[in-house]
Amino acid sequence: MIVDITVVADAEEAARLVAERLADQARAGGSIVLTGGSTPKRAYEIAAELEPDWSGVDVWWGDERCVPPDDDRSNFGMAKEALLDRLAVAPRSVHRMESVEQYERELAGVGTFDLVLLGLGPDGHVASLFPGFPTLDVTDRDVVATPAGHEPFVDRITLTLPRLRDTRELLFLVTGPDKADAVARAFTGEPSRETPGSLVRAAYGPTRAILDSASSAKAVSGTGMSSK
Ligand code: 6PG
Repeated sequence: MIVDITVVADAEEAARLVAERLADQARAGGSIVLTGGSTPKRAYEIAAELEPDWSGVDVWWGDERCVPPDDDRSNFGMAKEALLDRLAVAPRSVHRMESVEQYERELAGVGTFDLVLLGLGPDGHVASLFPGFPTLDVTDRDVVATPAGHEPFVDRITLTLPRLRDTRELLFLVTGPDKADAVARAFTGEPSRETPGSLVRAAYGPTRAILDSASSAKAVSGTGMSSK
């Protein structure tokens, strides 16, 4: 399935595009799955400025590191500081990942997500689905536990491939030169268990990738790629 790729000059511009999409979804309401890592922080800050009322949104996460919520490595903690604490009107619901059982319970009966946001690791991982790990083969669960395949090396909780695909839109945000190989493999290569990013596509709508010029440097052109 084609990934609609947009390349912008730098990380700030990429963050702004993603923030605009988040703000639009906040206005429309619905379910948004946030991603962890450091790249989305700026997008979250801008999104809170563009639309401070998230009262129509149910907020979920694609993965979490098993650390307390106020730990620097917490994906929830990052989003709280960059986005949730800056909103004038809080989301309708905020679903922090605490354990596999708790998240499966909270997700039970929840239908297709409206927007799933994902980053991409330099090794091609998405959420906490790492290259070659058995978690890639799980098709009968929404949530699984996994050891880390990348830093920070703390245990993780992650949505599975089928649950991440169950969305009306999937949006990747990837910046920086260390991601150039992974970007080429994930968005313009053949699907492969060695590059989990190549295995996640929205089942019910577009899959888009917002890249800066550094991360897109090795991607083959001509696959739905456009520059802004
Ligand atoms: C996590 C993630 C992970 C992340 C990538 C990119 O919890 O680590 O959700 O999949 O998106 O590792 O992270 P950076 O933005 O920090 O490079």
